[in-house]
Amino acid sequence: MDLFEYQARDLFEKHGVPVLQGIVATTPEEARAAAEKIGGVTVVKAQVKVGGRGKAGGVKVAKNADEAYEYAQQILGMDIKGHTVHRVMIAQGADIAEEYYFSILLDRANRSYLAMCSVEGGVEIEQLAVERPEALARVEVVPTEGITEAKAQEIVREAKFDEETAAKVAPVLVKLWDVFKNEDATLVEVNPLVKTGDGQIIALDGKVTLDENAEFRQSGHADLADKSSADPLEEKAKEHDLNYVKLDGEVGIIGNGAGLVMSTLDVVAYAGEKHGNVKPANFLDIGGGASAEIMAAGLDVILNDPQVKSVFVNVFGGITACDAVANGIVKALEILGDEEDKPLVVRLDGNNVEEGRRILAGANHPLVTLAETMDEGADKAAELAHAAN
Ligand SMILES: Nc1ncnc2c1ncn2[C@@H]1O[C@H](COP(=O)(O)OP(=O)(O)OP(=O)(O)O)[C@@H](O)[C@H]1O
Ligand SMILES: [Mg+2]
Repeated sequence: MDLFEYQARDLFEKHGVPVLQGIVATTPEEARAAAEKIGGVTVVKAQVKVGGRGKAGGVKVAKNADEAYEYAQQILGMDIKGHTVHRVMIAQGADIAEEYYFSILLDRANRSYLAMCSVEGGVEIEQLAVERPEALARVEVVPTEGITEAKAQEIVREAKFDEETAAKVAPVLVKLWDVFKNEDATLVEVNPLVKTGDGQIIALDGKVTLDENAEFRQSGHADLADKSSADPLEEKAKEHDLNYVKLDGEVGIIGNGAGLVMSTLDVVAYAGEKHGNVKPANFLDIGGGASAEIMAAGLDVILNDPQVKSVFVNVFGGITACDAVANGIVKALEILGDEEDKPLVVRLDGNNVEEGRRILAGANHPLVTLAETMDEGADKAAELAHAAN
């Protein structure tokens, strides 16, 4: 889960990373009040989960509260790379002498963590990494050791800070590691980390990605989720522990196992080429246990997508045998009742397939078509979606 800058700022503060005052505002009036409260020069900053806000005009320096009002008026509602600005942060203005870059990230390829640091921050770091890779220090951080005092010294030395600055930056890096570790982050990035005119080191911008797999031990993180922008169907699927991703097409897909669902998407997309170019409407993996409740929950999510015109259920019976899956489908259709009004193509294979097919044939549901093979099922589902379009 990516955080907004103001949320990252709050986590930084919690772990002792030096930050400036910041107050979130959703209206120009609130922005003015925030700027008055902070006093002096402030910076009005768009809160969107995308980079390059400054370049897009989403970061503006306000000399006084009236200017903060004006800039908030301009920035609120602005579209930055497809993200609408609903909030701004009014940040205390910093007297910047130098801008640096620092990040810690999960280095999957090396099964480790990586710290990156540069005395040339502020700019687009991707560009710096390509054009002048030597200006970006890359230091491995061993997961079991983390960023100790000594490791922080190594990082600032590699980044070629002058001695005086290095001594001030190193302790901040240790604190940023505390954020990374204690909050179960997979990314902590500060760009820019600045030195002010009077020699203080401050994190002026923060990007944090939290590891959702750690939610069970991070009770506070649920509150950080941005419910307003989440897809309601994805939320509903999450409540039922279903792996669901909404796509743009017309054929709803339910399968068990990520691999099978992925190939079902391909096969349906291919079949769709013959039927008005219909495409898969979603990815939905119901996992190992295809019980009636899970099947009903899955169907419920998919049928609530108005774009869906037909549904293809493609299940391979393993530990959960096909007869159990078939019973699940029949019961799910009972649970959904009249809500289910879209055609359903079912392909079962694997453990106890004969019994599974017999159960579905016996139920004789008017909306259900049985398919023998995956290709046949995909073709039928695409044809039905096209006919209903
Ligand atoms: N509180 C502040 N006081 C003074 N200047 C600031 C402040 N916050 C940001 N700036 C200036 O604005 C620049 C851009 O701000 P920031 O890094 O927060 O946004 P960005 O980098 O454009 O956005 P993103 O990180 O999303 O790409 C900074 O490099 C800094 O020079
Ligand atoms: Mg930045």
